[in-house]
Amino acid sequence: MDTRTAHTSELAAGELREVRDLLDAAFDGDFADEDFEHALGGMHVLVREDGRLVAHGSVVQRRVLHRARALRTGYVEAVAVRADHRRRGYGNTVMAALEAVIGRAYVLGALSASEDGAGLYLSRGWAVWPGRIGTLSPDGPVRLPDEEGSTYVWTPPGGVRLDPAGRLDFDWRDGDVL
Ligand SMILES: CC(C)(COP(=O)(O)OP(=O)(O)OC[C@H]1O[C@@H](n2cnc3c(N)ncnc32)[C@H](O)[C@@H]1OP(=O)(O)O)[C@@H](O)C(=O)NCCC(=O)NCCS
Repeated sequence: MDTRTAHTSELAAGELREVRDLLDAAFDGDFADEDFEHALGGMHVLVREDGRLVAHGSVVQRRVLHRARALRTGYVEAVAVRADHRRRGYGNTVMAALEAVIGRAYVLGALSASEDGAGLYLSRGWAVWPGRIGTLSPDGPVRLPDEEGSTYVWTPPGGVRLDPAGRLDFDWRDGDVL
């Protein structure tokens, strides 16, 4: 098994194509161009077996407004393992490498979990954010009640302490905000 951590700028065009193909297959075609765009511009973890890409995840920077502070947040995107390689620890390998990046570069980790992914994140100490979720939309701050219950946070050692009574307002983006 070969695990590589690299910035988007260090990936060859062919590697980005491999990542996109993996994601299209892993999400059964339910992976939009905007979802892929959200996974770019940060650090990728690529796991290869005999040269073939079998697992991927990335972490990108977002600002999360919480209690009047704009928290430098590592937002996890595009975690996927090839279907015939699941339940062998690849998901955990990807998350461990992404958490190492978050621990060195951010004060908070966050992600939006699919049903498939929830167990993986919970078992690694990520927790559903128990409070409100929102975004700083072009029309001003708006609450996103549909994202409450599926948004997970993880505080690295020395990271920020969150107040569950306060809202997490994520920066705006095209497509799914979370
Ligand atoms: C979610 C996903 C990334 C998990 O990947 P994975 O490689 O199966 O994850 P792991 O193997 O590390 O862990 C999954 C489970 O297998 C278990 N496991 C790990 N190694 C194992 C092994 N050698 N033998 C048996 N079980 C094992 C883990 O303990 C874990 O068990 P749990 O679900 O009871 O906690 C994968 O299912 C996937 O790609 N799903 C589709 C895309 C998706 O939804 N991605 C998440 C987006 S938020």
